[in-house]
Parts: sequence; C-alpha cells; structure tokens
Amino acid sequence: MTKLNTNVKKQHLLINGEWVAAEEYSPLQSPYSGEVIAEVPLASIAETDLAIEAAVNARKVMASMPAYKRAEILENLVHALQERAEEAAEIIALEAAKPITTARGEVSRTIETYKFAAEEAKRIHGETLPLDAARGGENRLAYTVQEPIGTIGAITPFNFPMNLVAHKVGPAIASGNTIVLKPATQTPLSSYFIAELLLEAGLPKGALNVVTGSGKVTGDKLVQDSRISMITFTGSPEVGIEIRGKAGLKKVTLELGSNAAVIVDKNVDLDKIIPRCVTGAFAFQGQVCISLQRAYVHEDIYEEFVTKLIEETKKLVVGNPLDELTDVSALISAKDVERTQSWIEEAKKQGAKVVAGGNTEGNILYPTIILEAKSTLKVCCNEVFAPIIVVNKVKNVEQAIDQVNDSRYGLQAGIYTNDITTALNAAEELYVGGVMINDIPTFRVDNMPYGGVKESGTGREGLKYAIEDMTEMKLVVWNRN
Ligand code: SIN
Repeated sequence: MTKLNTNVKKQHLLINGEWVAAEEYSPLQSPYSGEVIAEVPLASIAETDLAIEAAVNARKVMASMPAYKRAEILENLVHALQERAEEAAEIIALEAAKPITTARGEVSRTIETYKFAAEEAKRIHGETLPLDAARGGENRLAYTVQEPIGTIGAITPFNFPMNLVAHKVGPAIASGNTIVLKPATQTPLSSYFIAELLLEAGLPKGALNVVTGSGKVTGDKLVQDSRISMITFTGSPEVGIEIRGKAGLKKVTLELGSNAAVIVDKNVDLDKIIPRCVTGAFAFQGQVCISLQRAYVHEDIYEEFVTKLIEETKKLVVGNPLDELTDVSALISAKDVERTQSWIEEAKKQGAKVVAGGNTEGNILYPTIILEAKSTLKVCCNEVFAPIIVVNKVKNVEQAIDQVNDSRYGLQAGIYTNDITTALNAAEELYVGGVMINDIPTFRVDNMPYGGVKESGTGREGLKYAIEDMTEMKLVVWNRN
C-alpha cells in the first residue's frame, strides 16, 4: 500500500502575480487519514481586497490581449499539465481522498477542458444586424461584439478541485477576463498548483489571483464587492441562494446540486447497465452533483436489477485513496459521515431496506444500496453527496418520470429503454438540464452544456456556454444617412 505523503507545505496567497504571506494560516488535513498535509492561508477581508484590486488593475491588459495570445497561454498550460499529470493526480488524491485512478481521470479531463478553452478563445465573435428591417433603421451599419465582462469571482467546490476550477478559469481567460478564485477550503492545493503553472505559461500578473479562506469572510467579500462583475459558483443550493441574495446587480451563475435519477425500462440489457450504475452511484464516493442517487426500475426486471447491483457493488475495493486498487475512499469530512448515517437510520425507521453497506470505518461510508425508500425520506429528496443509491420499483416509465420530476432539483437524468418513442417522450417530459438516453445521469464530457433547472442552478458550463455568460454584448450602430 502506498503511504500518504506527509511533507507539509506552507502555501501562500497568489496576489498580483506574487506569492504573498498571509496573516493567518490553518492546517489542511487528509480526509482519509487525518494527517496534516499543508498549511493554507485564511485570507482576511483586507487581503481579499488586495486580490480584487490586482484583478481590476489587470483588466486592460487581458481585455486588449489578442485571441491567439490568450489561446497560447492556455495551450502552454495544457503542455505543462501533461508533463506534470501524475503530480497533479496525487495532489487531488491527497487533499480530496479521491481514489488515485479517478484522480488521474480528472487530470485528463482538466487537460481537455483547457484545450477546449484555448480553441474557444479563437471563436468569440458578434454578428451583423439588418436594422433596416425596422422602419427608421435604414442606412445604418449595425454589429455586435462580445466584450469581456471584467473581473470574475470564482468560488469552486471540493469534488473536482482541478476540473471544476478549469471550467471557470479556462473560459474566463479565453474571453479576456481577470479572476479572483476562492477554491474550496478542503481542496485548495489543486488551485495553487494550476495557478503556478499558469504564471509559468505567461499569464500576466493580476489576471488570476487565488485566495483561500472562509465563506463568511473571503467568499462574502468577493460576492459583495462592486468591482466584481460576475460570480460563478459551484456548490450547494443553500450557499447558492445566499450568494444570489448578497450579490446585488452582478451576474451570478450557479451550478448546484441534485438527486439525479435513472429510469430503467423493461427488456434492457442489465449486464451492460449495472456496471455503469455502480460507477454512477459510487465513483468518488458519490460526491458528484450528477451522481446516481435514485433508480426507478420497471417491476418486470426489478428483482434481477437489485440482485446484480448488489453483486457488482460488493466487488468495489474500499480504502486508501493513494492505493492503485481503491475504488471508494473517505467522505470529505466526519460531519458528512454523521449526516449520512442519520439519513440512513431515518430510512430504516421508515421501512426502507438497506441491502448493502450502511456501515462506516473512519470517514469511509461503505457503498450503500437502499430499497423501497419513500420520496419524502432525506436519502431520496435531499442531495446525499455520498455513496448511497436508492432503488425503487415502478409499474411503467410514466410513473418513473413523475417520480424523477418530483424533486426540487433538475440537473441531469438518464433513461435506459429499447423503445425510441419512450426515450423521446422521456426526453421531452423530464424537467432537467440534460437527458441521457441509454446512459446514467452521471455522463459528462467537458464541451457539452452543463447546468440545471429548479434548485440545481442557473447558467451553463461547457466552455462555449460559459463564455456566453462571461462576455457582454455591445451593439455598434453607424448612421450613414
Ligand atoms: C459536478 O459535480 O457538478 C461535476 C460533475 C462532472 O464534471 O463530472
């Protein structure tokens, strides 16, 4: 078994292209072993203010930088990350307790996300407009341009500490903006690592500033400061709603949680589907916004589905995130272990059956399968963000669609069926940001539009779509009369 790296590093704030010592630091612990793995700054309001000032001062340089140059910086980052991919994966595994093979997958995705960002940098443009379609609009040349929105406050989550940062930093640089990034308190090291590579890649000073600290101090300062033009946040609905309330007139995009579901119709190939469902439910301990939390399975194949799901789940290796064989490791905090335990207890008391897992060891919750859970139970209606899947029997796909839609969330949903009409009806009736036909809701590649409805948020990621949010349309009209 690989040993955890215990070289404790003191990390500093990144402000105006310099590594700046902070007034206060706090120890960062491994969620798996509890060992201290780094000392991380807790930025004060004054330090966050300096980061904002640096980003505002760098606006002109970024806004006037030609597209090929912005693309070049992102390409340089891609090359550097390719060279240091293993180091990057180890950082993710260490700070997030993400199993190393899954962490490597995240690094590959991060590389691809920055590649897409570099490509999109060259495709930002407006359009010409036929104003003479309106009476009085004759003899005018009209066109739009997409200008950078200014300075973006990016607040990112712990679950994809590199790739979800890339989904904010990548499009922001591609579209000529400057950024103040506040990564999740538990996973700041990935952000500092990327920031270092970006400086080496030629990013001008002040274009990216990284401040770690608490939501109440650092986060609130970013959200409330009028020099910040936009907040892009990924995290919980509770925090997202609070941000909207505090942000005033600035643009806010929110990528929030969900209790994502899959519908499994009769006559489908379960041997193909089950391994996908196990990945969807348990990859990175279910701490994924589109993790498969609810399965609605046709009554004709329900028993077979459950038997095969239990069999496949039992094959998962649970343990140290740095061990090559590990599939499932620790939850991000002891608080989350307690929370999920109490939700499982509630489900049991209300008559649901726990047929796999439910037990814990340190911060690890074993992959858990719950059957016949009512829709009002927390394991069903809240976002579990843990390795828990609820499987319920349905009479038909229509009933399943009603159950999937009976949720305050709406990020992505999946449906497995062999019937094209059933598939297309479901695509129409499911009230979510994305429908995956013959796949789990957990499917995501990084250029696709990604975002939700209801309490799953507003706005879309996927480089092209994020850039639309990160630019302002300006209209130019030339009167030739
Ligand atoms: C998320 O948890 O929202 C991101 C999921 C992904 O990028 O795969």
